[in-house]
Formats: sequence, structure tokens, C-alpha cells
Amino acid sequence: MGWSQERLEHVAQTRLGGAKLIVVANREPYIHRFKDGEVEWIRPAGGLTAALDPVMRACGGTWVAHGSGDADRQTADASGRLRVPPDDPTYTLRRVWLSKDDEEGYYYGFANSALWPLCHQVYARPVFDPAHWDAYKRVNELFAQAVLDEADGGPALVFVQDYHFALLPRLLKQARPDLVVAQFWHIPWPNPETFRVCPWGREILDGMLGNDLMSFHTQYHCNNFLETVDRTLECRIDRERFAVERSGQATSVRPHPISVDPRLAAEYLGDDWERRAEKFRKRYRLGDRPLLVGVDRVDYTKGIPERLLAVDRLLQQHPEWKGKFHFLQVGAPSRTHLPAYRDLNDEVQNLADRINWAHGDGSWRPVMFLNEHHGPEDIFLLYRMAAGCVVSSLHDGMNLVAKEFVTARPDEQGVLVLSQFTGAARELPDAVLVNPFDVQATADGLLAALTMPADEQRRRMRKMRQQVDDHNIFRWAGMLLSEVGRMVEPADLPEPSGVTPPSEERQRDLLASRHSLDTIALTWGAG
Ligand code: F6P
Repeated sequence: MGWSQERLEHVAQTRLGGAKLIVVANREPYIHRFKDGEVEWIRPAGGLTAALDPVMRACGGTWVAHGSGDADRQTADASGRLRVPPDDPTYTLRRVWLSKDDEEGYYYGFANSALWPLCHQVYARPVFDPAHWDAYKRVNELFAQAVLDEADGGPALVFVQDYHFALLPRLLKQARPDLVVAQFWHIPWPNPETFRVCPWGREILDGMLGNDLMSFHTQYHCNNFLETVDRTLECRIDRERFAVERSGQATSVRPHPISVDPRLAAEYLGDDWERRAEKFRKRYRLGDRPLLVGVDRVDYTKGIPERLLAVDRLLQQHPEWKGKFHFLQVGAPSRTHLPAYRDLNDEVQNLADRINWAHGDGSWRPVMFLNEHHGPEDIFLLYRMAAGCVVSSLHDGMNLVAKEFVTARPDEQGVLVLSQFTGAARELPDAVLVNPFDVQATADGLLAALTMPADEQRRRMRKMRQQVDDHNIFRWAGMLLSEVGRMVEPADLPEPSGVTPPSEERQRDLLASRHSLDTIALTWGAG
């Protein structure tokens, strides 16, 4: 049986045993902002919110996040709460308000100027500023208070997201040892030699070991994490069960590769996508030329200049392709308060201009850089129109653009050119895999996308679609919930209807082995 929203709903009901689900993520799934004097809501760019929103729609509960929109206060109640999605409310969003100083030190500072480059290792030097660290600690405490408010003394599973909240799990456990706390780290975890330069490494690891479950996209990141803990802290590591024990708290460390909701593609494309595609082609004067597309936040980990250099190389080596295709880069501005990000916007724009100058003419521009936020309706339209989608991250925990692209192709056409340094590359070997640092290899990948025969495209796309269908976001959340749900109330797991549970003896055996948790899920209703 495949994983669906309904099946996840069922798992949430049975596994949580009445405990409240509280998700904590810095980024909110819906941002309210003023536009032309009116309030509008948008979905932010970035994989985390796109992936978790369908989970929250299925499970209900509360999402605690930074209220970052300029109309956010106007659209929430006095406690920062509102029901979302705004057009079809199914769960609660609790906004936490941050001062400018805290946002600067915690989000732009420690999270995105220290941990982000430290974990991605793309030759951007991390900045370790004690003032940033103080703000990071303060904001983690602020969020801990908001979560404790939301739990309201009752049983809860707190599911913490990402590198913004390394200290939060320990703070929660200190205040409420009975809470079940799990964390998912959406970015890579580096090896111990890299991590050891962080002056507050011990505190960060101690905070993360407040979790009952610490999860990463890949086994490789789990290994790095365990190795880092082993070299940094006094603790007991159980390598067989992949767990750490410290101060009486056991933390399981597990890979759970995140994914997307494959049904959303049809929803975003709608019945009129062909009409919209025609309009789009007219508006940007694309004719009927094939499109290669890139869709990213403008971030130095995404390898955007590298892919433009590959376009340049392709046109130098194959001038016969001049006038015959476009490379269209959607680059949502991101973290532009930081000079490295602002500079990157300029760099990409300059590079696009240079390539257009060198190869284009009055009527044809090879590169289009749409440097603005686009909603999912536009993004999925581009995926559907594209001859190829290019994901050339220099390092990426997963990269959900790659998975979204394949969900948008029921026609089984289109080529995914994918960096081998993404988590997604492990699950999608039928993409054209490239090393983005190697301009020639990436240019060859682009050419492959433009020239691949339809049959070959179909063969590859079919396999990739099957993989994402089978390993969708509901499976990701279902597996995680099954794993931690057991910790909420192991004795009270109800028997899912229509499914025969394993015998009591079998259940005991399974529960005794942490390695068997997926097996429990798979053999007993949840899996
Ligand atoms: O990939 C890491 C991540 O923080 C995601 O969790 C998120 O989707 C993306 O980057 C967006 O970042 P931000 O919230 O800083 O715009």
C-alpha cells in the first residue's frame, strides 16, 4: 500500500494517542504582507515550508514560527495565532515576534552566517560572533517559551526543524522531560574536522542531544553527526543501534530523506496550464524554443553562477545552438540583508548580461534571470514547459526542486540535470548527474538535456516519478511519526482498523530493536 494523506492522517491519529503535534520552524508557511495598500498572503520560497505544509494539513496541530511579514501582526490574534492555510484552514500557525536585533543576530547572524556555511562547506567562511551567539541563545529560549505555551501542560510531540534551533530540544526537555522531542536537520552535517572550528560546538551538540530522535536526510550525515558527538562530548555511543546516551537521555540518530506531495503538481498546474504557458512564451518572447530552467533561492550553495558558466561553455562549443533555446533562471531573492547574498544577486545578473552580450542578438537572449519571488503556480508551469531542469547545488541536504520537477511531468518528458552533491542524487540516479564544479561536465549535461531522445527521457522520467511517488512526503512524515509516536505512549498504541497487528511477542521483539522501527510501521498499519 502506498503512502497518502489519508494514511498519514490515520498514523497521526493512532500514533500520537491524543498528544498534540507542535512543529517548530523558523520560516512560517504563510506570510502576510502589504501590497498596494492591501494585505495579501504568499507561500515563501524554500523546500521546508512546501514539504511540511501538506503534513500539517494531514495531521493538524500547531506550527510555531517567526512572524516575518509586514502584515503578520494585523492578521494574527493577540497571542500571534491564526488558522491556516488562509483559504482552507486546517491547522494553527503561532507567530513569534522577534526584535530587529534578535533577527539580525539569530537568523542573519548565527544561523545563516555561522551554521549555514559551516554545514555546507562550499568555501564560504563561517563568521563566529559572540553577539550572534547570544541572540541565537535568546531566540531559542523565546521559542521554547512559545512551545511550552502551546503544549499547555499536556502531552505533546514537538517536531523541531533545522539549524535555527539547535538549543531548543535541550531547553524543552529541561522544562518538560515528558515531552517527546524530535528534530529534523534539513541541511548537511559536516565531518568532525570541519565542525570543530565552531567555538560553541559543545553547546550545540548538547542542545541537539535533548532530542529523542535526531534525523538527517542521509546516512552519511548521520555518520558525520555521530562521529562529531563522539569526538566532542563525554557520552555513550551505541553504534549498533545508532543512538547516543548522555545524562540519562537517549537520542536515536536516523536518516529520513524528505520529499514532496506529488499531488500538488496537478493542483498548481490546473486545467489551463497550456494557455498560461502560451501567454508566458509570448510575454518573454520565447517562441517555441526549448527551455532549460533553474529554480532556486539566490544562495551561494545553489551553484547558479556555475550553471551559467556551463551555458556559456555550451554556446562556445556548440554555436549551432545559438538562437535555438533559452536558459531561464528563477532566482527568488533570499537573505539579501547579508552582503554575500546581495553580491551573489549582482554576480548572477552580471554573468547573465555578459553571456547575453557574447552570444545573443537583438531578437534572442540565451539567459533570462527572473530575480523575484514566484508562487508555485508559476514555478510548476515552468517545470511543465521545460525541456530540462537544472539543479547544480554545490552542496545540498536534499533539494526539493529536483523532486518537484519530476512530479510536474505526467507526460514523462523532460530531463533532470542534477548535481551529484545533493541528497536527491542518491534517490534519483536516473537524472543526468553532474559535478557542478566541473564546467565542462555541466555543459555536457545541458547538451544532453537538449538532445536526449524522447524514449530515453521517458525511461528515466518514469523511474524518477515512481521513486518520488513511493517515497513521498507522507511516507517521510509517517515514518518519523511511527518512530517517535512509539515514545509518546507505547502502551496505548491502538490497533489500526482492518489490519492485523503482530502478536504481542512479535511486538515486544520489534520494539526491543530500534532498528526494526520501520518494520513495525511497514507491517502494522502505519507502514
Ligand atoms: O534548506 C535549508 C532552509 O533553511 C530550508 O529549511 C528552507 O526551506 C530554506 O533553507 C529557506 O531558507 P530561509 O527560510 O532562510 O528563506
